[in-house]
Amino acid sequence: MSDQLLQQIFLEARTHNGWLAEPVDDATLRHLYEALRLGPTAANSVPARIVFVKSPEAKERLRPCLAEGNVEKTMSAPVTAIIAYDTRFHEKMPKLFPARPTMGEALAAMPPEQRDFLLLQNASLQAGYLILAARALGLDCGPMAGFDREKVDATFFADLPWKSILLVNLGHGDPEKLFPRNPRLDFEEACRIE
Ligand SMILES: Cc1cc2nc3c(=O)[nH]c(=O)nc-3n(C[C@H](O)[C@H](O)[C@H](O)COP(=O)(O)O)c2cc1C
Repeated sequence: MSDQLLQQIFLEARTHNGWLAEPVDDATLRHLYEALRLGPTAANSVPARIVFVKSPEAKERLRPCLAEGNVEKTMSAPVTAIIAYDTRFHEKMPKLFPARPTMGEALAAMPPEQRDFLLLQNASLQAGYLILAARALGLDCGPMAGFDREKVDATFFADLPWKSILLVNLGHGDPEKLFPRNPRLDFEEACRIE
């Protein structure tokens, strides 16, 4: 990874709260998905499903689902990605893991607690891949857990077995609206080498 890409994806990238009036076209969202889908997931299960909320009408349906502090930043973002996981993800396993045709059945038979963990772990990883891929494509992100998950599911996935886990605003961030950068833990506080 070049030093410039490291700067762009991690060292200089920030979580954005305000957005410039610069749209994000659908082709960019397709590029974003084509990159993030290649990030690794358990048994190649790729359980994340994404709705890119872009039209003013769809944004209005999202509004009542948002925590108060997230309303303005979300309504002004060019795109808000709803990241969900598919509770029937195992049905796609014949395509995703052709070398082992019984993989889908094996995953479907997991105890519910283990299945829920697998879904949350892998869809959350894919949400992380989305953030990093978006930054690599020159977009800024604003992830948010402050929303009513049940309302989002009822509003956007009424006929689908999908469960929302995270919203990510996407666009070109307004540097004027950044919050101060908070410190991170030092290596010695967060890691050890054994
Ligand atoms: C899972 C997750 C949930 C978050 N939820 C919210 C939220 O609901 N509202 C908000 O304004 N910021 C939210 N944030 C933003 C974080 O506070 C922010 O990413 C963190 O403070 C780091 O900021 P920085 O990237 O500018 O250093 C969330 C971030 C993550 C990763």
